Amino acid sequence: MPVPMIIDCDPGHDDALAIMLAAADPAVDLLAVTTVAGNQTLEKTTLNALRVCTLAGITDVPVAAGCDRPLVQPLAVADDVHGVTGLDGPRFPEPTVDAVPEHAVDLIQRILQDHPEPVTLVPTAPLTNIALLLTRYPGSAARIREIVLMGGSTGRGNRTPAAEFNIYTDPEAADIVFRSGVPVTMCGLNVTHQALATPEVLARFEGLGTELGDTCAGLLAYFAAAYRRLWGMPHPPLHDPVAVARVIDRSIVGCADANVTVELHGRYTRGATVVDLHRYLDRPVNARVAVTLDADRFWDRMIAAVTVLGSRTAGPAGPEPA
Ligand code: BDR
Ligand code: CA
Repeated sequence: MPVPMIIDCDPGHDDALAIMLAAADPAVDLLAVTTVAGNQTLEKTTLNALRVCTLAGITDVPVAAGCDRPLVQPLAVADDVHGVTGLDGPRFPEPTVDAVPEHAVDLIQRILQDHPEPVTLVPTAPLTNIALLLTRYPGSAARIREIVLMGGSTGRGNRTPAAEFNIYTDPEAADIVFRSGVPVTMCGLNVTHQALATPEVLARFEGLGTELGDTCAGLLAYFAAAYRRLWGMPHPPLHDPVAVARVIDRSIVGCADANVTVELHGRYTRGATVVDLHRYLDRPVNARVAVTLDADRFWDRMIAAVTVLGSRTAGPAGPEPA
Protein backbone atom coordinates (compact mmCIF):
# COMPACT_ATOMS: atom_id res chain seq x y z
CA MET A 1 0.00 0.00 0.00
CA PRO A 2 1.39 3.45 -0.87
CA VAL A 3 2.31 5.59 2.14
CA PRO A 4 -0.01 8.60 2.63
CA MET A 5 2.27 11.65 2.67
CA ILE A 6 2.18 15.43 2.91
CA ILE A 7 5.20 17.42 1.74
CA ASP A 8 5.82 20.74 3.50
CA CYS A 9 8.32 22.67 1.39
CA ASP A 10 9.88 25.94 0.24
CA PRO A 11 10.69 25.42 -3.47
CA GLY A 12 13.61 25.71 -3.96
CA HIS A 13 15.45 23.65 -6.61
CA ASP A 14 15.70 20.48 -4.55
CA ASP A 15 12.17 20.87 -3.15
CA ALA A 16 10.91 20.89 -6.75
CA LEU A 17 12.40 17.44 -7.35
CA ALA A 18 11.13 16.22 -3.99
CA ILE A 19 7.57 17.13 -5.05
CA MET A 20 8.05 15.25 -8.33
CA LEU A 21 9.44 12.15 -6.59
CA ALA A 22 6.56 12.06 -4.10
CA ALA A 23 3.94 12.67 -6.78
CA ALA A 24 5.12 9.96 -9.15
CA ASP A 25 6.62 7.16 -7.08
CA PRO A 26 4.20 4.25 -6.67
CA ALA A 27 5.20 3.83 -3.01
CA VAL A 28 3.69 7.23 -2.11
CA ASP A 29 0.14 8.58 -2.01
CA LEU A 30 0.76 12.33 -2.04
CA LEU A 31 -2.16 14.00 -0.22
CA ALA A 32 -1.00 17.64 -0.22
CA VAL A 33 1.85 20.03 -0.87
CA THR A 34 2.12 22.79 1.71
CA THR A 35 4.46 25.75 1.59
CA VAL A 36 6.33 27.89 4.06
CA ALA A 37 8.75 30.81 3.94
CA GLY A 38 12.35 29.68 3.73
CA ASN A 39 14.43 29.63 0.57
CA GLN A 40 12.31 32.59 -0.49
CA THR A 41 9.26 34.47 0.77
CA LEU A 42 6.03 32.54 1.20
CA GLU A 43 4.54 34.24 -1.84
CA LYS A 44 7.42 33.00 -4.01
CA THR A 45 7.67 29.48 -2.57
CA THR A 46 3.92 29.02 -3.08
CA LEU A 47 4.07 30.33 -6.64
CA ASN A 48 7.00 27.98 -7.27
CA ALA A 49 5.10 24.98 -5.91
CA LEU A 50 2.25 25.82 -8.28
CA ARG A 51 4.69 26.22 -11.19
CA VAL A 52 6.25 22.84 -10.47
CA CYS A 53 2.86 21.14 -10.19
CA THR A 54 1.71 22.75 -13.43
CA LEU A 55 4.80 21.71 -15.40
CA ALA A 56 4.80 18.20 -13.95
CA GLY A 57 1.05 17.70 -14.48
CA ILE A 58 0.39 17.31 -10.75
CA THR A 59 -3.14 18.69 -10.81
CA ASP A 60 -4.96 16.49 -8.31
CA VAL A 61 -2.94 17.40 -5.19
CA PRO A 62 -3.99 20.44 -3.11
CA VAL A 63 -1.36 23.13 -2.56
CA ALA A 64 -1.75 25.38 0.51
CA ALA A 65 0.35 28.26 1.78
CA GLY A 66 1.36 28.34 5.44
CA CYS A 67 3.53 30.55 7.63
CA ASP A 68 5.23 33.58 6.12
CA ARG A 69 7.95 33.89 8.77
CA PRO A 70 9.73 31.87 11.44
CA LEU A 71 8.19 31.63 14.94
CA VAL A 72 10.57 34.05 16.63
CA GLN A 73 13.24 35.54 14.40
CA PRO A 74 12.89 37.43 11.12
CA LEU A 75 13.05 35.52 7.85
CA ALA A 76 16.42 35.38 6.07
CA VAL A 77 15.97 33.80 2.63
CA ALA A 78 18.56 31.75 0.68
CA ASP A 79 18.60 33.83 -2.49
CA ASP A 80 22.34 33.22 -2.79
CA VAL A 81 21.56 29.54 -3.40
CA HIS A 82 18.15 29.61 -5.10
CA GLY A 83 18.07 33.06 -6.74
CA VAL A 84 15.57 35.92 -6.59
CA THR A 85 12.64 33.76 -7.65
CA GLY A 86 13.65 30.87 -5.39
CA LEU A 87 13.70 28.70 -8.51
CA ASP A 88 16.11 30.54 -10.80
CA GLY A 89 17.45 28.87 -13.93
CA PRO A 90 15.07 27.19 -16.34
CA ARG A 91 11.87 28.86 -17.47
CA PHE A 92 8.63 27.68 -15.87
CA PRO A 93 5.12 28.11 -17.25
CA GLU A 94 2.71 30.35 -15.40
CA PRO A 95 0.64 28.12 -13.11
CA THR A 96 -2.68 26.76 -14.27
CA VAL A 97 -3.40 25.35 -10.81
CA ASP A 98 -4.29 27.48 -7.78
CA ALA A 99 -3.55 27.23 -4.09
CA VAL A 100 -6.53 26.24 -1.95
CA PRO A 101 -7.91 29.05 0.25
CA GLU A 102 -6.96 27.36 3.51
CA HIS A 103 -3.91 27.86 5.73
CA ALA A 104 -1.44 24.99 5.31
CA VAL A 105 -1.64 24.09 9.00
CA ASP A 106 -5.44 23.82 8.87
CA LEU A 107 -5.27 21.73 5.70
CA ILE A 108 -2.74 19.35 7.26
CA GLN A 109 -4.87 19.04 10.40
CA ARG A 110 -8.01 18.32 8.34
CA ILE A 111 -6.24 15.64 6.29
CA LEU A 112 -4.80 14.04 9.45
CA GLN A 113 -8.26 13.94 11.00
CA ASP A 114 -10.07 12.59 7.94
CA HIS A 115 -7.57 10.09 6.59
CA PRO A 116 -8.25 6.51 7.63
CA GLU A 117 -4.56 5.86 8.36
CA PRO A 118 -1.87 7.91 10.10
CA VAL A 119 -0.09 10.17 7.62
CA THR A 120 3.66 10.71 7.09
CA LEU A 121 4.83 14.33 7.05
CA VAL A 122 7.90 15.18 4.99
CA PRO A 123 9.11 18.70 5.76
CA THR A 124 11.86 19.86 3.41
CA ALA A 125 11.97 23.43 4.71
CA PRO A 126 12.05 25.38 7.98
CA LEU A 127 9.75 23.59 10.45
CA THR A 128 7.45 26.55 11.19
CA ASN A 129 4.24 24.98 9.81
CA ILE A 130 4.87 21.67 11.55
CA ALA A 131 5.62 23.32 14.91
CA LEU A 132 2.47 25.40 14.61
CA LEU A 133 0.45 22.30 13.77
CA LEU A 134 1.74 20.48 16.87
CA THR A 135 1.09 23.42 19.18
CA ARG A 136 -2.23 24.61 17.75
CA TYR A 137 -3.62 21.07 17.37
CA PRO A 138 -1.97 18.93 20.09
CA GLY A 139 -4.17 15.96 19.09
CA SER A 140 -2.59 15.96 15.63
CA ALA A 141 0.52 14.13 16.91
CA ALA A 142 -1.41 10.88 17.28
CA ARG A 143 -2.50 11.03 13.63
CA ILE A 144 1.05 11.48 12.31
CA ARG A 145 2.74 8.21 11.40
CA GLU A 146 6.16 9.86 11.40
CA ILE A 147 7.96 13.03 10.43
CA VAL A 148 10.80 12.43 7.96
CA LEU A 149 12.52 15.75 7.53
CA MET A 150 15.37 17.23 5.55
CA GLY A 151 17.39 19.38 7.90
CA GLY A 152 20.27 19.48 10.31
CA SER A 153 23.53 17.62 10.16
CA THR A 154 25.56 15.19 12.25
CA GLY A 155 28.55 17.41 11.48
CA ARG A 156 28.96 20.95 10.25
CA GLY A 157 26.39 23.33 8.77
CA ASN A 158 25.78 25.16 5.52
CA ARG A 159 24.35 28.43 6.86
CA THR A 160 26.81 28.90 9.68
CA PRO A 161 29.78 26.69 10.49
CA ALA A 162 27.48 24.78 12.84
CA ALA A 163 23.93 25.10 11.47
CA GLU A 164 22.06 23.81 8.44
CA PHE A 165 19.65 26.19 6.64
CA ASN A 166 16.25 24.65 7.48
CA ILE A 167 17.00 24.37 11.18
CA TYR A 168 18.89 27.67 11.38
CA THR A 169 16.01 29.55 9.75
CA ASP A 170 13.59 28.55 12.53
CA PRO A 171 15.40 26.88 15.45
CA GLU A 172 12.47 27.29 17.87
CA ALA A 173 10.20 25.40 15.46
CA ALA A 174 12.77 22.63 15.04
CA ASP A 175 13.10 22.37 18.82
CA ILE A 176 9.33 21.86 19.15
CA VAL A 177 9.38 19.12 16.48
CA PHE A 178 12.32 17.19 17.98
CA ARG A 179 10.76 17.36 21.46
CA SER A 180 7.23 16.47 20.28
CA GLY A 181 7.38 12.73 20.89
CA VAL A 182 6.30 12.08 17.29
CA PRO A 183 8.71 9.62 15.58
CA VAL A 184 11.20 11.85 13.76
CA THR A 185 13.74 10.87 11.11
CA MET A 186 16.36 13.49 10.33
CA CYS A 187 17.95 13.47 6.87
CA GLY A 188 20.75 15.97 7.32
CA LEU A 189 23.63 17.29 5.28
CA ASN A 190 25.83 14.32 6.21
CA VAL A 191 23.56 12.08 4.13
CA THR A 192 22.24 14.52 1.50
CA HIS A 193 25.83 15.34 0.53
CA GLN A 194 26.00 11.75 -0.72
CA ALA A 195 23.24 12.53 -3.30
CA LEU A 196 25.47 14.38 -5.73
CA ALA A 197 24.10 15.52 -9.08
CA THR A 198 27.11 14.65 -11.24
CA PRO A 199 27.28 15.45 -14.98
CA GLU A 200 26.22 11.81 -15.58
CA VAL A 201 23.06 12.43 -13.56
CA LEU A 202 22.29 15.60 -15.52
CA ALA A 203 22.80 13.67 -18.76
CA ARG A 204 20.24 11.09 -17.61
CA PHE A 205 17.62 13.82 -17.11
CA GLU A 206 18.44 15.38 -20.48
CA GLY A 207 18.35 11.95 -22.09
CA LEU A 208 14.68 11.58 -21.17
CA GLY A 209 13.91 13.88 -24.10
CA THR A 210 11.03 15.63 -22.34
CA GLU A 211 10.44 19.22 -21.31
CA LEU A 212 10.29 18.07 -17.68
CA GLY A 213 13.58 16.18 -17.96
CA ASP A 214 15.22 19.25 -19.46
CA THR A 215 13.80 21.46 -16.72
CA CYS A 216 15.20 19.15 -14.03
CA ALA A 217 18.60 19.23 -15.74
CA GLY A 218 18.33 23.04 -15.87
CA LEU A 219 17.51 23.23 -12.16
CA LEU A 220 20.46 21.01 -11.32
CA ALA A 221 22.79 23.01 -13.57
CA TYR A 222 21.80 26.22 -11.75
CA PHE A 223 22.27 24.45 -8.40
CA ALA A 224 25.68 23.17 -9.54
CA ALA A 225 26.86 26.69 -10.37
CA ALA A 226 25.66 27.96 -6.96
CA TYR A 227 27.42 25.14 -5.10
CA ARG A 228 30.66 25.71 -7.03
CA ARG A 229 30.52 29.44 -6.33
CA LEU A 230 29.50 29.28 -2.66
CA TRP A 231 31.12 26.09 -1.40
CA GLY A 232 33.63 25.07 -4.05
CA MET A 233 31.82 21.75 -4.45
CA PRO A 234 32.20 20.21 -7.90
CA HIS A 235 28.71 18.65 -7.80
CA PRO A 236 25.61 19.88 -5.95
CA PRO A 237 23.83 17.73 -3.35
CA LEU A 238 20.13 17.13 -3.97
CA HIS A 239 18.97 17.44 -0.37
CA ASP A 240 15.20 17.30 -0.17
CA PRO A 241 14.33 14.21 -2.25
CA VAL A 242 16.48 12.13 0.12
CA ALA A 243 13.78 12.48 2.81
CA VAL A 244 11.13 11.31 0.34
CA ALA A 245 13.36 8.40 -0.68
CA ARG A 246 13.64 7.31 2.95
CA VAL A 247 9.84 6.93 3.08
CA ILE A 248 9.72 5.19 -0.31
CA ASP A 249 12.25 2.52 0.59
CA ARG A 250 13.99 2.41 3.95
CA SER A 251 16.87 0.43 2.51
CA ILE A 252 17.91 3.42 0.34
CA VAL A 253 18.59 5.60 3.39
CA GLY A 254 20.12 3.88 6.43
CA CYS A 255 19.58 5.36 9.91
CA ALA A 256 20.92 5.20 13.44
CA ASP A 257 19.00 6.03 16.63
CA ALA A 258 20.19 9.06 18.56
CA ASN A 259 19.26 11.94 20.77
CA VAL A 260 19.04 15.15 18.74
CA THR A 261 18.91 18.51 20.48
CA VAL A 262 18.54 21.82 18.68
CA GLU A 263 20.93 24.46 19.99
CA LEU A 264 18.92 27.61 20.68
CA HIS A 265 21.37 29.72 22.64
CA GLY A 266 24.90 29.11 21.39
CA ARG A 267 26.79 32.27 20.59
CA TYR A 268 28.16 30.71 17.41
CA THR A 269 26.09 27.56 17.24
CA ARG A 270 22.42 28.64 17.28
CA GLY A 271 20.43 26.34 14.99
CA ALA A 272 22.90 23.46 15.17
CA THR A 273 21.56 19.93 15.60
CA VAL A 274 23.57 18.28 18.36
CA VAL A 275 23.41 14.61 17.34
CA ASP A 276 24.56 12.23 20.06
CA LEU A 277 25.34 9.19 17.91
CA HIS A 278 27.76 7.78 20.47
CA ARG A 279 25.56 8.32 23.55
CA TYR A 280 27.90 10.69 25.36
CA LEU A 281 24.97 12.38 27.05
CA ASP A 282 22.44 10.68 29.25
CA ARG A 283 19.52 11.73 27.08
CA PRO A 284 16.79 9.55 25.55
CA VAL A 285 16.75 8.64 21.87
CA ASN A 286 14.27 10.97 20.14
CA ALA A 287 15.18 10.52 16.48
CA ARG A 288 16.38 8.28 13.75
CA VAL A 289 19.28 9.95 12.03
CA ALA A 290 20.08 9.17 8.41
CA VAL A 291 23.70 8.13 7.94
CA THR A 292 24.00 6.14 4.71
CA LEU A 293 22.61 6.54 1.19
CA ASP A 294 22.45 4.05 -1.65
CA ALA A 295 23.06 6.78 -4.22
CA ASP A 296 22.57 4.58 -7.31
CA ARG A 297 19.15 3.42 -6.21
CA PHE A 298 18.26 6.95 -5.09
CA TRP A 299 18.97 8.37 -8.54
CA ASP A 300 17.23 5.46 -10.28
CA ARG A 301 14.07 6.22 -8.31
CA MET A 302 14.37 9.97 -8.96
CA ILE A 303 14.84 9.49 -12.71
CA ALA A 304 11.96 6.98 -12.82
CA ALA A 305 9.65 9.56 -11.23
CA VAL A 306 10.57 12.26 -13.73
CA THR A 307 10.21 9.74 -16.56
CA VAL A 308 6.64 8.92 -15.48
CA LEU A 309 5.61 12.55 -15.04
CA GLY A 310 7.36 13.67 -18.25
CA SER A 311 5.69 11.03 -20.36
CA ARG A 312 2.27 11.90 -18.87
CA THR A 313 2.60 15.59 -19.59
CA ALA A 314 4.38 16.99 -22.58
CA GLY A 315 5.71 16.03 -25.93
CA PRO A 316 9.39 16.28 -26.76
CA ALA A 317 11.41 19.27 -25.58
CA GLY A 318 11.19 22.31 -27.83
CA PRO A 319 14.15 24.09 -29.42
CA GLU A 320 16.53 26.05 -27.23
CA PRO A 321 15.45 29.71 -26.89
CA ALA A 322 17.65 32.06 -28.93
C1 BDR B 1 18.07 22.82 2.66
O1 BDR B 1 18.07 24.23 2.56
C2 BDR B 1 17.39 24.65 1.40
O2 BDR B 1 18.09 25.66 0.76
C3 BDR B 1 17.21 23.41 0.54
O3 BDR B 1 16.01 23.50 -0.18
C4 BDR B 1 17.19 22.29 1.54
O4 BDR B 1 15.88 22.06 2.04
C5 BDR B 1 19.51 22.33 2.60
O5 BDR B 1 20.23 22.87 3.66
CA1 CA C 1 13.93 22.98 0.91
